Amino acid sequence: MKSNKAADLLAKMTLEEKSNQLIQLATPFFKGASDNGEITGPMVQLKIDEQNIQNTGSVLGASGAENIISIQKKHLEENRLGIPLLFMSDIVHGYKTIFPIPLAIGCSWNVDLAEHSAKIAAKEAAVSGIHVTFAPMIDLVRDPRWGRVMESTGEDPFLNSKFAEAQIKGFQGENVKESMEHVAACVKHFAGYGAAEGGRDYNTVNMSDRELHENYLPPFKAAINAGAKMIMSSFNTVDGIPATANIKLMREILREQWSFDGVVISDWGAVKELIPHGVAADEREAALKALRAGTDIEMMTHCYTENLKSLVDDGEIEESLIDEAVLRILQLKDELGLFENPFRGANTNMERDVIMSNSHRTVARELAAESCVLLKNDNNTLPLDAAKKVALIGPFAESGDILGQWSWLGSTEEVVTVATGLQNKVKENQLLISKDCEITSITEDAKAKAIETAKQADVIVIAVGEHSSMSGEAGSRTNIQLPQAQLELIQAISTVNKPVVTVLFNGRPLDLHGVIEHSDALLEAWYPGTEGGNAIADLLFGKRNPSGKLTMSFPYSAGQIPVYYNHYNTGRPKGAPDAQVRYVSQYLDSPNGPLFPFGFGLSYTAFQYSDLKISKQQIAKEEKLDISIKVKNTGSASGKEIVQLYIKDLVGEVVRPVKELKGFKKIELVPGEEHSIHFELSEEDLRYFHANLEYTSDPGEFMVSVGGNSTEVIELPFQLIPHKENQQ
Ligand code: BGC
Repeated sequence: MKSNKAADLLAKMTLEEKSNQLIQLATPFFKGASDNGEITGPMVQLKIDEQNIQNTGSVLGASGAENIISIQKKHLEENRLGIPLLFMSDIVHGYKTIFPIPLAIGCSWNVDLAEHSAKIAAKEAAVSGIHVTFAPMIDLVRDPRWGRVMESTGEDPFLNSKFAEAQIKGFQGENVKESMEHVAACVKHFAGYGAAEGGRDYNTVNMSDRELHENYLPPFKAAINAGAKMIMSSFNTVDGIPATANIKLMREILREQWSFDGVVISDWGAVKELIPHGVAADEREAALKALRAGTDIEMMTHCYTENLKSLVDDGEIEESLIDEAVLRILQLKDELGLFENPFRGANTNMERDVIMSNSHRTVARELAAESCVLLKNDNNTLPLDAAKKVALIGPFAESGDILGQWSWLGSTEEVVTVATGLQNKVKENQLLISKDCEITSITEDAKAKAIETAKQADVIVIAVGEHSSMSGEAGSRTNIQLPQAQLELIQAISTVNKPVVTVLFNGRPLDLHGVIEHSDALLEAWYPGTEGGNAIADLLFGKRNPSGKLTMSFPYSAGQIPVYYNHYNTGRPKGAPDAQVRYVSQYLDSPNGPLFPFGFGLSYTAFQYSDLKISKQQIAKEEKLDISIKVKNTGSASGKEIVQLYIKDLVGEVVRPVKELKGFKKIELVPGEEHSIHFELSEEDLRYFHANLEYTSDPGEFMVSVGGNSTEVIELPFQLIPHKENQQ
């Protein structure tokens, strides 16, 4: 429903006031701000004066109820029409209670917990005065060199869509206006940002329209259908035109085809960046192109405020385009109830009770435990026996740097470190710690000390990884191995000949050469957040059973990148029955497949899959296919298993992936327990984007497969037939 309040205000605004409503400035520009807030991009000199600031529409990166109330009060005193500011910040995986990084959350395959974590993040942010979060980030990611893979839930469009919906629901609740405990969600980055060439941040993206539609757009469509209030344009080009000026993307797809009527915000500085991209000669043209494409808010540059008025005066753009953008912003303010209460949920008393409450920490611990992925566990090295002596070695032994990027309000002081987590589980003197190795440097003395400590223990836990700044925005790497110093540490420890458990802290799938061969057990902990140490200790000592599974493939080596499960077969697939030795699609020096595939993760128990059944051999377009499989816990520990359903379309108009995820269920079984798990597929699940971008299915042969990861599955064929009457 359109708001009268917004329309009434718009009618009273001058053209200058309107242009200013369309810019977003970082906290340092505002009087009354008690700190600089979050700075996530270049702070260039802006042509911004008092006038502009008094009429600005929104603030980036402020936090804290007192601070935000103070900025808002001052603003309302000075703004002629009393239009409140919108406060937006990156609350990506927690406000102060920090949850695991999104890539880790993806690995939990637990959308309910993901929703719960977003709800908690929203609640802590809302009482601190924030109105909009720049989250969830739902870019599809296939290149672990790109530092921002840590912000996404992974390489699959179906899974990413499910997490997008869950997070939107968690952030926004059922009705964001009614609930002061929620915030509006801004999905990002629209679109294709995850495909930056060479994994270099901000780099060119080059992909077909079909690829964009098939893999990169679905999570955005799902987020919009789930009611996301905002969307952020990405830095990159989409078919040669930067997203921020891309009429086809922003107007045709987003507004016309998907009927999105929320606010579009540029990414930091992306309007002015149309100049270095080379599609605008100057700031005036940048403003013109971005507005024409439907970018409502210009984040952190001044092209709109400087140029929109004269563009209208000179007849180069219609004022109605500006009105449209302003109206959308005012409507969002209205939807958030800011005209009635400009301070919304900001409440200093509640801040004290709500933020980092025990119940929030409990959820953080649970989600961290479900996000860790057990990659190796030879000879049942894990779980550890609490009676044994443990040596904890490595730069992450006592480090609080396990929150990961995009946790700017999280405090490393509040973090439960691995050492504290383990200490909580063992008797005094049972834990020996050596943390002399740095992340990127190690001395011979430190190595010797580490070896000495290792010798005194029964089992060694090595806590290694990347410094959190080695991933995240502008955190691309070409070498995705652990830093050399830590490889040397691992090598040195291996000479002690005791069982080694390696715990990894990192924001991307790594090349594990130098780690895997020296580890008897390997736990991928990502950046697990505030409760990380407790969650890891729960897993290492078997209080919880690992249940995470990878949502992004771990390459065998960086030279294979991109390597992902839903690839095409090629005309010369390796391993085909009649394949030649040389003239097939392969590397001479590496396997084709990843070291650990999508969907992979071990448990302390074992799950057996049997009896895959389908309800019919053929389904007509209007029918459904019921798929069932028996899953049994054949080990001796209770555990959670992620049952995954894939399909393959054997013959399509365009080539189809070797597998496509179409369903998953996370179940829990006690030892000996067996469950029959059911899935349903309909014709809609078999559709894909054809050469002309029509989203339809092809009658013919399909394969359905079910299993505990993307490579170990049981499969059965079935057929899609056009209509029921054709069925024999
Ligand atoms: C990032 C966005 C973020 C924005 C505001 C940009 O540099 O790309 O993801 O939301 O800054 O902090």
